[in-house]
Amino acid sequence: MHEFQPLIDEHKDIYEIINKFKTALESTNKFTVMDELRNFKKGLDRVLDSHFATEERILFQKIEGKVTNEPDLIKNVLDEHKDIYKKKILLDELFDKYEIKHTDIGYEALIQLASDLADTLYNHAYVEDMTIFAFAGIVLSDEEKQIIAKELAKTSKKTKSK
Ligand SMILES: [Fe+2]
Ligand SMILES: [Fe+2]
Repeated sequence: MHEFQPLIDEHKDIYEIINKFKTALESTNKFTVMDELRNFKKGLDRVLDSHFATEERILFQKIEGKVTNEPDLIKNVLDEHKDIYKKKILLDELFDKYEIKHTDIGYEALIQLASDLADTLYNHAYVEDMTIFAFAGIVLSDEEKQIIAKELAKTSKKTKSK
């Protein structure tokens, strides 16, 4: 098993949540799209906070300073975490307003916002898969990777038993 398997599995989960929503966007039925938007938000509520927190606490801290050829790599993904959180909070707010009074935000604008969040998150996870996880595999010692694997296993057990 890969040392970062729990994080990779969470990315798979994230890709699935996004793909389901993006597929629903092809529908012309507003009710179908809104239902899937609800599922998209629920899916993110389930996985996003714990996934970002685990990455930041267990993986990023350990490789920061070691990736000297890409000094901004960790800073960039941390900025993206903040940006994704902000977009998610805005989506929740506007979704609630849309459900209550249709005047604050129109359907098209709401779906555009959700779609933008989905794209941002997809690209973020993809960059992590292709760069951070790959760099971590190179710059960390076997011992460090084993420590990370143990910490990740502990965290994912806790999350699953919630
Ligand atoms: Fe991340
Ligand atoms: Fe991630």
